[in-house]
Amino acid sequence: MKLPPSVTLVEVGPRDGLQNEKQAVPASVKIELVHRLQEAGLKNIEVTSFVSPKWVPQMADNAQVMAGIQRKVGVRYSVLAPNMQGLEAALRSQPDEIVVFGAASEAFSQKNINCSISESMERFRPVVAAALAQGVALRGAISCALGCPYEGEIAPERVALVAQLMREMGVQHVGVADTIGVGTPRKVQAALEAALRHYPLDAVSGHFHDTYGQALANTLAALELGIASFDTSVAGLGGCPYAKGATGNVATEDVVFMLHGMGIDTGIDLERLVDASAFISQHLQRAPNSRAATALLSRRHAA
Ligand code: HMG
Ligand code: MG
Repeated sequence: MKLPPSVTLVEVGPRDGLQNEKQAVPASVKIELVHRLQEAGLKNIEVTSFVSPKWVPQMADNAQVMAGIQRKVGVRYSVLAPNMQGLEAALRSQPDEIVVFGAASEAFSQKNINCSISESMERFRPVVAAALAQGVALRGAISCALGCPYEGEIAPERVALVAQLMREMGVQHVGVADTIGVGTPRKVQAALEAALRHYPLDAVSGHFHDTYGQALANTLAALELGIASFDTSVAGLGGCPYAKGATGNVATEDVVFMLHGMGIDTGIDLERLVDASAFISQHLQRAPNSRAATALLSRRHAA
């Protein structure tokens, strides 16, 4: 088993994390969170999404948040855009990367973006072409790759099909997303292998929600395949408003603790990451949903 010597973590807390919060989080807090994350060494930050504010009110301040960030050289700022309207608004904020988000489940595609999988691909096609023409990087997310809240289990072939369609239209990287956290290690490997039929190893990442406590094990299973990029969320924030009951992404702190313990480099300063975690948790008035952050914070209090 040859594990990657270093891993890229894409911090999705400001977007996937906060999109699911019921209470409005001020743009100033989101901006401060991004600043703290980049100070902790995160080099890839998913900041916001350019979606309908009627569907996801929490992301309505997308342009304001993007405008307020003091950008750090070497950090890639990503935003989600589901259609041309979203892309046009997104490009005005000058992101480094656009994320289109499709699904391996028909029912979830309908609930999340109000169209079928094949319609979603038709909507993404001009988005991808326009973003690439502007020199902006393109990533795709494949939701419900391990299971769907409406359809149940999802076969790896369906992940392969969406990966193939995204590859054909020019999407440069795909994330295999376990939206509702039902994946277990061998099934996660099968879903990743399905994406790897159409993408090289360095263009596939894992996006694991931790609803059933499987996300760290699934991360290790992905590392065994040589996958070296993961979406994670500070303080374990997150969920999708259109996948009821789904909890947050695996906590960035927990993944960093595991990787550093295995001698795998992330470029992230765990103590500063815990500061960012404490900051947003304090704002949301709850404890971080991260075992590593909880342990490190209680050690600080005891010192
Ligand atoms: P629709 O209603 O089919 O869109 O929604 P439409 O084109 O018919 O337009 C209807 C209205 O929406 C119009 O406004 C448009 O202007 C507006 P009205 O005339 O009624 O006032 N509209 C927009 N406004 C702002 N930005 C836009 C936009 N597009 C249309 N881009 C749509 C289709 C995709 C817009 C809608 O379904 C939507 O916004 N969905 C977003 C869902 C979402 O954000 N989900 C969470 C992110 S995905 C996720 O979390 C999963 C991931 O983490 C991986 C995983 O874990 O699985 C990535
Ligand atoms: Mg997600």
